[in-house]
Amino acid sequence: MKSIIYRRYGTPEVMQLLEQPEPIAARDQVLVKVHATAINDWDWTLLRGQPLILRLLSGPFKPKTSILGTEVAGVVAALGDGVTGFSVGDRVYGDLSEAGFGGFAEYVSVPEKAVHPMTANMTFEQAAALPHAGLLALQGLVDVGGIRQGDRVLINGAGGGVGAIGLGIAKAFGCKVTGVDKASKLGALNAMGFDDTLDYEQTDFTRHGQRYDLVLDAKTTRSPLRYLKALEPGGRYVSVGGYLPKLFQLFCAGPVIRKVTNKQLKILALKPNQGLDRLKDLFESGALNCMIDGPFALADVPAAMARFGRADHLGKIVISVV
Ligand SMILES: NC(=O)c1ccc[n+]([C@@H]2O[C@H](COP(=O)([O-])OP(=O)(O)OC[C@H]3O[C@@H](n4cnc5c(N)ncnc54)[C@H](OP(=O)(O)O)[C@@H]3O)[C@@H](O)[C@H]2O)c1
Repeated sequence: MKSIIYRRYGTPEVMQLLEQPEPIAARDQVLVKVHATAINDWDWTLLRGQPLILRLLSGPFKPKTSILGTEVAGVVAALGDGVTGFSVGDRVYGDLSEAGFGGFAEYVSVPEKAVHPMTANMTFEQAAALPHAGLLALQGLVDVGGIRQGDRVLINGAGGGVGAIGLGIAKAFGCKVTGVDKASKLGALNAMGFDDTLDYEQTDFTRHGQRYDLVLDAKTTRSPLRYLKALEPGGRYVSVGGYLPKLFQLFCAGPVIRKVTNKQLKILALKPNQGLDRLKDLFESGALNCMIDGPFALADVPAAMARFGRADHLGKIVISVV
């Protein structure tokens, strides 16, 4: 099978398109013929082995995993012993971040728990764009953020994968949604349906006088006290990611702030694949916009990774494997 292999940490140039033996479905695993995959922050982080602390998990000198690719959508091609939930030919999708990755290949073998049935009206490209960023948005806004009907919501880093899907979820709750990203992406954000947009290079949303009931942040860069200023009384700020020192401050200050103010500052710890059924319902109702950047071919993964690293993308970078 064709696959994108990397054997040392580095820039996208260390990735190569190579022929590899097809994996075999071991016990409790399904072999998936990959039709589409998507690029995520996990792939970018594991490719570079940065921040260095991550190498405690991913391998200190060279990566333990040779094929990246966090999200997949495809067709079950074979079943390992003990698999009860799937048949050959089923269309499935899922987040492989706790299942060894491997989406940048024509086939991947994964535990059956790592994939779920797709709905009939999803394309493989849409399905690949959903599980990781979609659940960051869903768990962030709903489970941790406690989104309420009619909330004023702000999504920081709105031009990425979480932003487009987060918009759909917030709109399903009848919310007014502000999107923050750089100037070149704001036209597309307005067209996508954001009620208001801010250029983060011109306007600091923590200082421009507006307050929000719920902030979902894909790029935490500020100190906790700054975020408090952007919140209405009873407001919630949920970080899904950002700069480690700022996340650490948030982790330490969040519980104290909850005790001494009526506002909440929280960090989401993603539970992969938990809530895909709710995401599927939202997709079927037409509420979700899987904003797809691409799709690109499997051979173009190194270029697509470089595009992700430059943050030139809008929505999710998707790779069509078939
Ligand atoms: N919580 C968890 O368990 C968990 C698990 C996995 C991943 N994550 C995190 O979840 C996030 C994934 O979000 P995503 O998929 O939407 O990322 P993404 O596709 O990389 O999008 C991020 C967007 O933020 C913009 N941006 C960069 N700097 C910004 C700033 N200072 N202010 C506002 N916007 C800025 C980027 O555009 P420009 O750079 O062009 O401005 C880009 O449009 C990442 O932070 C990742 O580390 C969390």
